[in-house]
Amino acid sequence: MLGMKLPHHHGGAADVRSRGPEQTVKSLMERASCRSFQNRKIPARVINTILMAGTHAATGGNLQPYSIIKVTSASSKKELADLCGQDFIARAPVDLLFCIDWHRIRQWARMECAPFSATSSFRHFWISFQDTVVCAQTVCTAAEALGLGSVYIGTVLECFRNLRTMFRIPRLVFPVVLVCLGYPKGTLHPRKKLGPQVVVHNNKYRRLDAGELRDAFNEKYSNLKVDITSDRLKTIHAVCAKVKGERFARRCLERIRKTGHINAAQRYFGLHYRADRMPDNNDEFLLIMEECGFKWFRRHVWK
Ligand SMILES: Cc1cc2nc3c(=O)[nH]c(=O)nc-3n(C[C@H](O)[C@H](O)[C@H](O)COP(=O)(O)O)c2cc1C
Repeated sequence: MLGMKLPHHHGGAADVRSRGPEQTVKSLMERASCRSFQNRKIPARVINTILMAGTHAATGGNLQPYSIIKVTSASSKKELADLCGQDFIARAPVDLLFCIDWHRIRQWARMECAPFSATSSFRHFWISFQDTVVCAQTVCTAAEALGLGSVYIGTVLECFRNLRTMFRIPRLVFPVVLVCLGYPKGTLHPRKKLGPQVVVHNNKYRRLDAGELRDAFNEKYSNLKVDITSDRLKTIHAVCAKVKGERFARRCLERIRKTGHINAAQRYFGLHYRADRMPDNNDEFLLIMEECGFKWFRRHVWK
């Protein structure tokens, strides 16, 4: 793989000499999220192969504390689309809901007369969250290798309780992420990323200096300049004032007026993932975790 030519959207140097990447790696680097699907079923053998690959992924201690709910019914997909607020979810032939699952493992431990405390242990939360995502990503990679497109849906977090009811999810099972799969309609356009020269640190963490950092982000988001509107300014002002105070809010608006646009960072944290709203509901999320039977964010006391 050394000397490989990285596609330009990957932040790689275009002049690295190479014989060309092998197909798998090429497809990994040319992938893009797919939100538009052909009206074409995924053959059972294809979906089964993909799921087989997913369940073959690495998993802490080889425990596999996850489950995948395969959703193909039109009414359930529509409900998912409504709950997650994204129409294309209904148009994907298959939606997969990846969940942390300690229910199955506790049942097994009980049956086998083994001690079990995973649902009270932060370590087990950590590992099962990782395992679930590793499985999901393996599924996406296998799907893409077989000509399918995929997209993750993180907004399942807006509707944990509905999902539990809808799919009859028992306690000790927790939805993590949804993946939509289908044959892509049209060409996918890879998005620019920060490349290894920014995100990889050799042996020790290296802080980027201000210039490097600005160049890297400017390059990544060169196409992302949001027009100024009075509504947007009003929102950004309110967000800044709440999070960092009135003086900072004025500074932010001054910067916007000077540059003539809303930049990518301001758009991300002032408009899209609003910094004044993101920490809301932390208590509610903890409560939902506990409703699901998990006590992994609490001090554990042996009875
Ligand atoms: C954890 C996670 C959650 C995501 N949630 C959504 C989502 O709710 N809706 C969506 O359209 N895309 C979602 N995405 C896809 C990202 O928007 C996408 O990966 C990102 O914009 C980069 O584009 P690319 O995947 O085409 O490289 C999510 C991706 C990840 C990894």
